[in-house]
Amino acid sequence: MSDYILFAGSANPALARAVADTLGVPLGDCAVERFPDGETSVRVLESVRGKDVYLLQPTCPPVNDNAMELLVFADACRRAAAGRIHAVVPYYGYARSDKRHGRREPITASLVSLLMREAGIDHVVTLDLHTDQIEGFFPGPFDTLTAVPTLCAALKPELPAQSVVVAPDAGRVKLATEYAARLDVPLAVLHKRRESGTETHVTHLVGEVEGRACVIIDDMIATGGTLVESVNALREAGAASFVVMATHALLMRNALERLADAGVERVFVTDSVPPREDPRGILRVVSVAPLLASALRHLVQDESLQELF
Ligand code: R5P
Repeated sequence: MSDYILFAGSANPALARAVADTLGVPLGDCAVERFPDGETSVRVLESVRGKDVYLLQPTCPPVNDNAMELLVFADACRRAAAGRIHAVVPYYGYARSDKRHGRREPITASLVSLLMREAGIDHVVTLDLHTDQIEGFFPGPFDTLTAVPTLCAALKPELPAQSVVVAPDAGRVKLATEYAARLDVPLAVLHKRRESGTETHVTHLVGEVEGRACVIIDDMIATGGTLVESVNALREAGAASFVVMATHALLMRNALERLADAGVERVFVTDSVPPREDPRGILRVVSVAPLLASALRHLVQDESLQELF
């Protein structure tokens, strides 16, 4: 087994602690602070010389601060002669900008991947990445884990009869197919047109939803707009009830209230980002700490991750 240290960035310390507890190791000693002008300060307070360093830091909101902190942390470790630097990024921010929709637009998913490499990160471990091609933006080893088995195991005991898994748009068909196979239920697909960064409209439905309990899946929930649109379209098509499953619960603004008001009964998510307040009691948070701990257990021994999929 390699000599390794797991550090928690400030984006999701509770998840890092849960991973460390599962592994039975202490978290690395460090201090992360903000200078009065907003710049990020990271001090690594123990030797990392020659060691495998794992930095657990989802680049969730505040995305720019958390992404910058990851880069600064990696730079500190590189300059302290760490062996290999592994970024454990359970939520990979900027992933939705993975191609250009028009001229003169950036591809920020590529930019942040290149910045990570430039900061000294050798290897990335992430979870349910928005699109597979992002792996190719990072010029080094890249492991994408999936929370689908974990989420399905949580839903299965309360899966209503006559369920159908629904992909909210064409981009989620592959993910929805995995959910449908694991839950052993049929699949339906919505097609949406994007009006702006925050507004979408459902235009088509493929599949049988009348009288069925819809399990609408997505990789992430940000404003909840996509899912509310989906619920409205499915209700119009005669669907009976709605459950949502998504790996990354960004839940910006009043997303949870919007989902509850739209008639969503339960929202299954993971703790890839810190869980939000749930005044309406519809949120079920399933921890990915055991999954990440298993991955690290394999990685520190240079073993295959195959059994985690
Ligand atoms: C879009 O391609 C993503 O997979 C999500 O559907 C979307 O980003 C969710 O955002 P919101 O909750 O704001 O609609």
